Amino acid sequence: MDGLNGSVVSEFVLLGLSGSWETRVILTLTFSLLYLGIILGNLFIVFLVIADSHLHSPMYFLLANLSFNDVWVSSTTVPKMIFDLLSEHKVISFQGCMIQICFIHMMGGVEMVLLIAMAFDRYAAICKPLHYLNIMSPKRCILLVVIGWVTGVIHTMSQFSFVMNLPFCGPNTIDSFYCDFPRVIQLACSDAEKFEFVVAANSGFMSMGTFFLLLLSYVFILVTVWKRSSGDLSKALVTLSAHITVVVLFFTPCMFLYVWPFPTSSIDKYLFIADFAITPALNPVIYTLRNKDIKISIQRLNKQGHYNRFC
Ligand SMILES: *[C@@H]1O[C@H](CO)[C@@H](O)[C@H](O)[C@H]1NC(C)=O
Repeated sequence: MDGLNGSVVSEFVLLGLSGSWETRVILTLTFSLLYLGIILGNLFIVFLVIADSHLHSPMYFLLANLSFNDVWVSSTTVPKMIFDLLSEHKVISFQGCMIQICFIHMMGGVEMVLLIAMAFDRYAAICKPLHYLNIMSPKRCILLVVIGWVTGVIHTMSQFSFVMNLPFCGPNTIDSFYCDFPRVIQLACSDAEKFEFVVAANSGFMSMGTFFLLLLSYVFILVTVWKRSSGDLSKALVTLSAHITVVVLFFTPCMFLYVWPFPTSSIDKYLFIADFAITPALNPVIYTLRNKDIKISIQRLNKQGHYNRFC
């Protein structure tokens, strides 16, 4: 084992799911299709926003960034899970486990900041329409994206620097589909209580803070729309309810996993599916299929295609 402070554990065993063969085959097929949909759907959005100059606006730049990030978010855990569903020997190397943890928190951090940025963008567009392009200048858009990545790095490193120094010497079985702080910390052979606190304080605070900030911004937008004219309220409600669904779906597992870092039930090991497979699949659906600009852009793309074929 290389010089990781007296660690003797060189791999972790992921228990994951141990159902019948048929169940595992069905789940493998289901998640493979879902993952394929996530990759294709999100990359399609990135492609569309870059290719169509009509979509060169703050909202769509942020959306493309979110889609790009969603591809990575689900790639941190889903491919490994699919692979493990069919294999008998479900192990992950020590380094692989640490890398997985880093990527999960890196991408998770970026995702949270992007969701806040997109809520802020909607707030500016709806509540301050005359200053919108000033508030969301190209410079500020780039700044928001950079803040996302910086936050992701700081968030990851601030926790990882503690866990990196933990000695792992004995048990190496993780009752989950992937590696993450709460489960891995429990395997350390030194007293890990204060590290549990670090993770709960950091990841827990971050997910709860983001969650309430987002809900607050949605309430603010709704109140503004409601005050201005009652006619538009139902339309705003429909749009925002889709966003709120995603936010609740994404943050409830996060809060449950980190603010409550003492896994007692086995349900919580399935919660990650909401974060890594459902939300990345839902984002393209709610931001795209219900969106007029994107539909028009797809039609335009289609026409161009015909045009090129005939000319
Ligand atoms: C992310 O946002 C920035 C800033 O608006 C933009 O320049 C860039 O093209 C976006 N990235 C992707 C992958 O769409």
